[in-house]
Amino acid sequence: MTFPGAQSSSVRTNVLLSGLFLVTVLNCAGLVYLFVQCNGLRSQQAAMGSRLEELTESWPMEFISRLSQEETGWTEQRNRNKRSHQQPKSFEETEDSVMMMTYSRIPIRIFMDLCNSTRGICLTAAPGPKGEPGDVGPKGEPGPPGSDGLPGPKGERGPKGERGEPYNEIILEGQRGPPGPPGPAGPPGPVGPPGPPGSKGRSRHQQNTVSHDEAHAAPSDDTLIRRMSAQKALSTISMKSGRIIKSVDAPYNVTRIENTFGAWMKDPASKNNGKIWIVEHFSGLTVKEYEDLEALKIGSNFKTITLTRYFHGCGHAVYNGSIYYHKGGSDQIIKFPFDGKQAQHMKVENALHNNRNYLFQNAKTYFDLTADKDELWVIYASSHDENIVVGQIEINEDSFSIVQNINTTFPKSKAGNAFIARGILYLTDTKDSKIVFAFDLLKDKQLDVNFDFRSSNDTLTMVSYDPYDHTLYTWENGYLKKYGLHFLSAE
Ligand SMILES: *[C@@H]1O[C@H](CO)[C@@H](O)[C@H](O)[C@H]1NC(C)=O
Ligand SMILES: *[C@@H]1O[C@H](CO)[C@@H](O)[C@H](O)[C@H]1NC(C)=O
Ligand SMILES: *[C@@H]1O[C@H](CO)[C@@H](O)[C@H](O)[C@H]1NC(C)=O
Ligand SMILES: *[C@@H]1O[C@H](CO)[C@@H](O)[C@H](O)[C@H]1NC(C)=O
Ligand SMILES: *[C@@H]1O[C@H](CO)[C@@H](O)[C@H](O)[C@H]1NC(C)=O
Repeated sequence: MTFPGAQSSSVRTNVLLSGLFLVTVLNCAGLVYLFVQCNGLRSQQAAMGSRLEELTESWPMEFISRLSQEETGWTEQRNRNKRSHQQPKSFEETEDSVMMMTYSRIPIRIFMDLCNSTRGICLTAAPGPKGEPGDVGPKGEPGPPGSDGLPGPKGERGPKGERGEPYNEIILEGQRGPPGPPGPAGPPGPVGPPGPPGSKGRSRHQQNTVSHDEAHAAPSDDTLIRRMSAQKALSTISMKSGRIIKSVDAPYNVTRIENTFGAWMKDPASKNNGKIWIVEHFSGLTVKEYEDLEALKIGSNFKTITLTRYFHGCGHAVYNGSIYYHKGGSDQIIKFPFDGKQAQHMKVENALHNNRNYLFQNAKTYFDLTADKDELWVIYASSHDENIVVGQIEINEDSFSIVQNINTTFPKSKAGNAFIARGILYLTDTKDSKIVFAFDLLKDKQLDVNFDFRSSNDTLTMVSYDPYDHTLYTWENGYLKKYGLHFLSAE
């Protein structure tokens, strides 16, 4: 006894269960498939990662190293361009740098992208190779000056300097060096015949007294026209005695002033004036005035006169209350009155006056002013031919000038010094040991004169004729000396 309805419901339940089972099996199979797929994707991702790592390590390095090679090439080429032609470099250089900037920017950007996207891969990469050193940059601006250093220790005391002098217009020159070694002695000469018995000689003192008497007998300055004509002067002199010097006596020392260079002077225009003026060295501003020879010998009592302009050389002259001297560095002669009046000056045309091209080398003199009783002369060297020229100076109240130039034709290079006595110019040789040339300034002709002057080697810086005691007076290496003279008798 079965029910038909109960039988059909159990069949429906079986079908439902088997359907559920089928669905479950299908789901399981799908899960297994998905799991397998998932594994495949993971290994692919890992492969991708390692490939990226490879790329970041190798590819940019290759790129950078290739770039650096290219850059070296560029630099060399640019240097070659610089060497071969300088002009168009600025444009080419700008282009180069643009190129280089473009090239170098690319790897940096890629690198940063990689770095950003891979997060940290770049941090583990090895650093790139060291780049080539860059071009030398342009010279920078000089830095600010540093502060002063600390003062150094005190130095050793230096050697003693040369004696200085006030001087600011001309370059100083060194002192003359020591004299050279002596030459060999000459052979003795033959014995001469015995001379005739001599008459009673005259002492120099007597001679001087006679000379003074002669001088007193001469017309006084007041009666003379200030500038006598050559003929008048000539007649005045030749009336008394001969004019030409025959010989020179041995000298005697008057005094000593410790200075190689210098000059001492008397004023031949003021006869009864025993004053003596001393000018030391070949450059300076100071003149010393002594009342007389005794005061000079004592040496302490003198008046100091300061010139307004520097003198140069040892060729000054005192004439009628003024000193005449060469204004250092110029072609001018200055007249400086001792009475305080305004100084005057005169230009000597075509005269050597600087660059050590001296008239007298030993004395460092360019202009030698020489005063006779009635005349003032200036001896100088022509700038045209370096011959010695004598200018005759005319003096007026407020000016003085050269009225006549006499060309002696004697070259200055052969002369040591000069003096004028009784209207005749005498020149010494370069050692100042003898008279080698004489020129009659009043008759304008050369004289045949040749006699010994001195035997000393001392530097002679000045020689003058004293028309009152008819002597020569000199300055020789600081010794002030006098030489007696003998004249030829009048024609
Ligand atoms: C990398 O990332 C930083 C911020 O994390 C960002 O500032 C920078 O611009 C990124 N660089 C590139 C090249 O994208
Ligand atoms: C001249 O100088 C030489 C060498 O210096 C010397 O031997 C000689 O004695 C000097 N002559 C005179 C006169 O002083
Ligand atoms: C005179 O001067 C000379 C130098 O020229 C010197 O050697 C001599 O000692 C001087 N005589 C006297 C007495 O001072
Ligand atoms: C000297 O100078 C005075 C004026 O100061 C003048 O009267 C006199 O004639 C001058 N003497 C000579 C020789 O030039
Ligand atoms: C001086 O005379 C000589 C000989 O006549 C001549 O050659 C020279 O040019 C003259 N010099 C001057 C400055 O007149």
